[in-house]
Amino acid sequence: MANVTVIGAQWGDEGKGKIVDWLASRADAVVRFQGGHNAGHTLVVGDQVYKLSLLPSGIVTGTLSIIGNGVVLDPWALKAEVEKLTAQGVEINPDNFALADNCPLILPLHRDLDGLREAAAGTGKIGTTGRGIGPAYEDKVGRRAIRVCDLAHLDTLGSQLDRLCAHHDALRAGFGQPPVDRDALVAELREIAPFVLQFAQVVWKRLQTVRKAGARVLFEGAQGVLLDVDHGTYPFVTSSNTVSGTASAGSGLGPAATGFVLGIVKAYTTRVGSGPFPTELTDATGQKLGERGHEFGTVTGRKRRCGWFDAVLVRQSCAISGVTGIALTKLDVLDGFEKVRICTGYRLRGKVLDYFPSYAGDQAEVEPIYEEMDGWHGTTAGARSWADLPAQAIKYIQRVQELIETPVALVSTSPERDDTILVRDPFLD
Ligand code: GDP
Ligand code: IMO
Ligand code: MG
Repeated sequence: MANVTVIGAQWGDEGKGKIVDWLASRADAVVRFQGGHNAGHTLVVGDQVYKLSLLPSGIVTGTLSIIGNGVVLDPWALKAEVEKLTAQGVEINPDNFALADNCPLILPLHRDLDGLREAAAGTGKIGTTGRGIGPAYEDKVGRRAIRVCDLAHLDTLGSQLDRLCAHHDALRAGFGQPPVDRDALVAELREIAPFVLQFAQVVWKRLQTVRKAGARVLFEGAQGVLLDVDHGTYPFVTSSNTVSGTASAGSGLGPAATGFVLGIVKAYTTRVGSGPFPTELTDATGQKLGERGHEFGTVTGRKRRCGWFDAVLVRQSCAISGVTGIALTKLDVLDGFEKVRICTGYRLRGKVLDYFPSYAGDQAEVEPIYEEMDGWHGTTAGARSWADLPAQAIKYIQRVQELIETPVALVSTSPERDDTILVRDPFLD
């Protein structure tokens, strides 16, 4: 029995939450391993809609849900989300939810800095979610972070706080802001500490126990490969590694545990925030994709930019992340289009490229080369078996898998959990 690692293969919002929820009932543990509450994962089960940002999507099926050390944790966001989900009838307790005690914290000063930098950048802004993700990761690698385990030792945080505040005070002064109110920060941490600490555990050890018992682990990625800090459209990326390999470092379970890498791929392309997007459509077709796909951000409510499927980018993501098979989502959004297009290469100053270059100037300049196919009559919406799909939609799927050099394992045809076609079972691979 394989473990499964779910990652986004585009710029996020591919439908990871829906697929993780669908797989979760057959997993013994669901683990988040990077990102933070910049993620927004939507699950639709009957007439209930669950929007998760920090909690692993397995929480809704009652599967053991774990936040690994690779996540940056905003304790107040966690509390708000636990309360929201509890009000929706989801049971969350220290038996079914564990939080790595070595997770770095996102503090109010991180959110401040995220906002100050974005405001100062004007039109050059990254378009972050404003959650303090980047500044928190900076403090982690800068060895200044306060971590979950530190919440049990707030009286002896002195020198750690000195380092953190000295760093932030200098930055804040540059923005004309007052220094960090240290007493207020410690008081806020003291208040939230018991809530967070009830879930804190030595997660690598818990996972070791789970693994030895032969359990199936489902890793839940956030964002997507094109937002990866190394492999994405730098600098218009998030501040973590979003590729499949992070599942290991971000949880403390060795790399062999990654198992089947399931890349989640939208049948077209979207992006929220700034940065290059070769197949973006700013015309009526882009508008139609956005309306049919309800492309508004889960976290910030921002309108997502939309465009045709880019096979070059997805092929690259699949290669970099070692994707075993993809889940092709939102196929139903393409229902009713007379023609559909797929980007098969780029033109850059007279040259044809079969990959996305690293240099930001080139990324902004590449022009997509398209292949056009007939759309399909009839509908794929709600289809639950291959036989329910129009022949032309099957042709589209087949062309996609050919171009990205990766097989299709699942197809998703609506937001609803069970409107999913299983082609190849990731757990049995
Ligand atoms: P995630 O961040 O990758 O989990 O994706 P989001 O939840 O942010 O965005 C995906 C959106 O598409 C959500 O509103 C889902 O309910 C919805 N969705 C997921 N799969 C499908 C699908 O196959 N068809 C349609 N129409 N919507 C889907
Ligand atoms: P899920 O998990 C889509 C984008 C932001 C911005 C960039 C940096 O729902 O797919 P950050 O706040 O992380 O510093 O912002 O990354 N971004 C996402 N876009 N889906 C997400 O998560 C995202 N998380 C961050 O819009 O462009
Ligand atoms: Mg999302």
